[in-house]
Amino acid sequence: MAKKTKPEKKEEKISEEIAENNPEEKAKQKKESDEIKEKEKVATMKIEDLPGVGPATVEKLKEAGYLDLMSLAAAPSRELADIAGMTESGAGKVIVAARKALKIDFMTGDELSSKRKSIERISTGSQEFNKLIGGGIETQGLFECFGEYGSGKSQLAMQLAVMAQLPKENGGLNSDVIYIDTENTFRPERIKQIAEAQGLDSKKVLKRIMVARAFTSDHQMLLAEKIDSMIREKNIHVRLVIVDSLTSLFRTEYSGRGTLATRQQKLNRHLHTLQRIADIHNIAVYVTNQVMARPDIFFGNPTAAIGGHVLGHACQFRVYLRKSKGDKRIARLIDSPYLPEGEAIFRVTEKGIEDIKS
Ligand SMILES: Nc1ncnc2c1ncn2[C@@H]1O[C@H](COP(=O)(O)OP(=O)(O)OP(=O)(O)O)[C@@H](O)[C@H]1O
Ligand SMILES: [Mg+2]
Repeated sequence: MAKKTKPEKKEEKISEEIAENNPEEKAKQKKESDEIKEKEKVATMKIEDLPGVGPATVEKLKEAGYLDLMSLAAAPSRELADIAGMTESGAGKVIVAARKALKIDFMTGDELSSKRKSIERISTGSQEFNKLIGGGIETQGLFECFGEYGSGKSQLAMQLAVMAQLPKENGGLNSDVIYIDTENTFRPERIKQIAEAQGLDSKKVLKRIMVARAFTSDHQMLLAEKIDSMIREKNIHVRLVIVDSLTSLFRTEYSGRGTLATRQQKLNRHLHTLQRIADIHNIAVYVTNQVMARPDIFFGNPTAAIGGHVLGHACQFRVYLRKSKGDKRIARLIDSPYLPEGEAIFRVTEKGIEDIKS
């Protein structure tokens, strides 16, 4: 915390004096300080502090990825009941208690809009792609690309790791980058190509990407949980976190019958961790996901993203990538809170992600 300078102290004193002589001002200041205390109290409240929630339930909730009151307050009661092995009415009570504790009330439109004002975007390298997603990949949220092998998911990951480092006027956020690689597909040589195409010094670019290889899904979850303290303790300016691939380890480890619930619980927990980082540090989180064959669909696209509803609800943006002729790729916006569905075509070339006409 910055040391208080003398003039500020003086101002504080004057305002105290004003308050002393003005009961209205005094009441206002008291109200403000009470509000701050209340907010601090709520912010440090834990699930175990909720009335009527026993240790066994707390344990189950945590296992299922509900780590804080906010995630409980926003949970659908049926899902919570399933995951924590409670009755639906029991789950409902927990949700209501969490909402009460958080004093959840409505935010006015302008309050919301001022939170959204601090959202910033990272360019994908293609203007067409950017246009499709409202200007680039947003901070404060999760952005998912799913598609089959070779569709460009990892190429976009590496492109973003470079683009994020650019200054704002060139589509970046002057960011350091955290890259969780679960498939061993991060390639420094590829970063070098992309960085040079952007006119950057590739050595410097590589220095600003912190890559961690995850070997198991538990390891992957741990790495994500470490990000918060890493940002606080190290002197780094992280605005982009990449998880490529989000789902592959979960998919291979939990492939048998009867393991789906555990997989979804763990994935849910992992997603909460990522969303929290996005919120707290105003970070963009880019995750990739494979598709699975859907033999039950005969018309349209017979593929679906892995992760089901857990993932579908967690990501603010979902983009389906597919191969087209040659180096062309098509991005289809599937889910967005405020943009129309649509498609954009771009290319994956030696320089990275580019517009068709560039
Ligand atoms: N240096 C390069 N120059 C041109 N194109 C490249 C280059 N490197 C990769 N590509 C293109 O990108 C494709 C690989 O895409 P990418 O690795 O992003 O796939 P993915 O969607 O991550 O697939 P997976 O599901 O297997 O992880 C290659 O098939 C090639 O078309
Ligand atoms: Mg890949």
